[in-house]
Order: sequence, then structure tokens, then C-alpha cells
Amino acid sequence: MSYRNLLIEDQGAVRRITINRPDKLNALNHETIGELHDAFARAEAAPGVRAIVLTGAGPKAFVAGADIAEMNGLSPVQARDFSRHGQRLMSRIEELGKPVVAMVNGFALGGGMELAMACHLRIASDAAKLGQPEVNLGLIPGFGGTQRLLRLAGRGPALELCLLGQPIDAGRALAMNLVTRVVPAAELETETMKIAMQLAAAAPQAMTAMIGAIVLAGEAPLSTALDYESQAFAVTFSTDDMKEGTGAFLERRKPEFIGR
Ligand code: COA
Repeated sequence: MSYRNLLIEDQGAVRRITINRPDKLNALNHETIGELHDAFARAEAAPGVRAIVLTGAGPKAFVAGADIAEMNGLSPVQARDFSRHGQRLMSRIEELGKPVVAMVNGFALGGGMELAMACHLRIASDAAKLGQPEVNLGLIPGFGGTQRLLRLAGRGPALELCLLGQPIDAGRALAMNLVTRVVPAAELETETMKIAMQLAAAAPQAMTAMIGAIVLAGEAPLSTALDYESQAFAVTFSTDDMKEGTGAFLERRKPEFIGR
């Protein structure tokens, strides 16, 4: 598993995927998006991986957007395909059966903001800047940004970020529901890994079922979504981990989940 634009590293059951184009502030070109598709598919299929951390290389950026140099030469048809390539990646991450944490270590702009929003949790450094500056380039978010911003933050903040195109700091992003937690830059790695380790130690089938209920069924009418919840709830009762979790509580000990 070796990529031109990504670094992959396992720490216990946590897989870390680092976008590694620091000289271009980790901008997402077509090739990097393709490699991310592959890296997430492999992480999902790897039995030993229970949580994923996604971040950007270097001190400045998570991802400073889709690659502007590459976009500059696209025809409308190629732009539509590029948008779909990016959208499919965001959906793949959002629908992954394993929890994905974005470690937002700097600029998360345009496609970077869209990538962070597709992750299940977002831990941001207090030095991070987030936003959708596409308007300044004469275009609009094309990797799902208009829709995920609307769903996470609501219509007012979504319109403000997209129409004004001005990045906001991490504190404001937290107030807008756009990040899960803000931590001092020096503690970002430790805090993110602590959260990822907690996710990796939890019952994997329960994680998958919850992501399904909240992300997938969340778009359905309430009655359908509630039915999905009941079915997913029932499935957890077929797992050894459910017996372990409830048994450990009753025996006043720490559960050890095995992923079955
Ligand atoms: N696409 C392609 N290249 C990008 C990029 C992007 N989205 N963002 C930054 N880069 C490149 C720059 O072109 C520069 O490359 P060079 O050294 O070969 O000229 C390098 O990354 C460093 O960026 P630079 O602009 O010099 O850094 P800065 O600290 O002065 O500014 C930003 C940082 C993030 C404010 C600025 O890079 C920026 O505005 N980037 C674009 C953000 C954006 O509009 N994203 C949405 C795209 S749809």
C-alpha cells in the first residue's frame, strides 16, 4: 500500500491517513482523490482497523481546497466529472462502517472543509481556519459543501460562509457546529489520538449500526428511520460484543470488545 500523495500509518487499531502534498497545502487534485478512495476502501476492509484519523501533512494546512491549478484547465464536462469524483469520496467516507476523525491541523478551505465535514468527528487546532472561499474564484463548492454545510450548521451560516467566502477561526466554527472540539495546536495530536483510541476500543458492530442510523437513515422520513433504528438495534443483539458489554456492566468490570 504505497501512494504518491498519501502516507498511511497504523497505531494499534487506528489507521492514520495523511494527505501529503505540503508544498501545495495538501490541495486535492484528481490523483489524490483517487488515492483517498483506495485508502478508505482498504481501511474499511482491513479487519484490524477500527477507527481512522484523516489529516494533512505539514504545519499549515489540513487541505487548502481542490487543486486550483488543475481546475483552471477543466472543461464543463470534466468539471462535472471532477465534482462527482470528489462527491463520491465524501459519501464513501461519510457512509464508511468505521468511525473517521478529521484532525484539522490548519487551513480547511473549500474541498478541505468539504472533506472535514464528511468525517464523523472533527477535532480542530485553535490555529485552524475553515471556510468555503470558492466564490472568490468564481465557482461554488462542488464536493457536497453546500449540502453538508446546510445540514451541519443550518441555512444562515451556510449562506454566510458560501456567499462571503471568508474563512472563520476554529472557535467560530465550533459555535456554528462545524467542528466537534477545538484544542490547543500543541495538543491536537494527543487529543485526536485519545479520541480515536476510544473509538477503536468500542464495539465495532455498534459503531457501524450507529453511523448507519444517523448518517444513512437520517435522510429518510422519521417512521422509516425509526424502523431502521429498531432493526439495527436488533442486529447488535446477535453480537458477542453486546453480550460482553452488558455482561461486563453487570459484573462491574471493563468490557473487552472483540469485533464479533
Ligand atoms: N490549489 C492548488 N494550489 C494551492 C491551493 C489550492 N487550493 N492552495 C494553496 N496552493 C499552493 C499555492 O499555489 C502555493 O504554491 P506555489 O508555492 O507553487 O506557488 C502553495 O500552495 C502555498 O500557498 P500560498 O498561497 O503561497 O500560501 P499562503 O500562506 O500565502 O496562503 C492560503 C495560504 C490558504 C490563504 C492560500 O494558499 C489560498 O487562499 N489558497 C486557496 C484556498 C481556496 O480558494 N480554496 C478553495 C479551492 S476550490
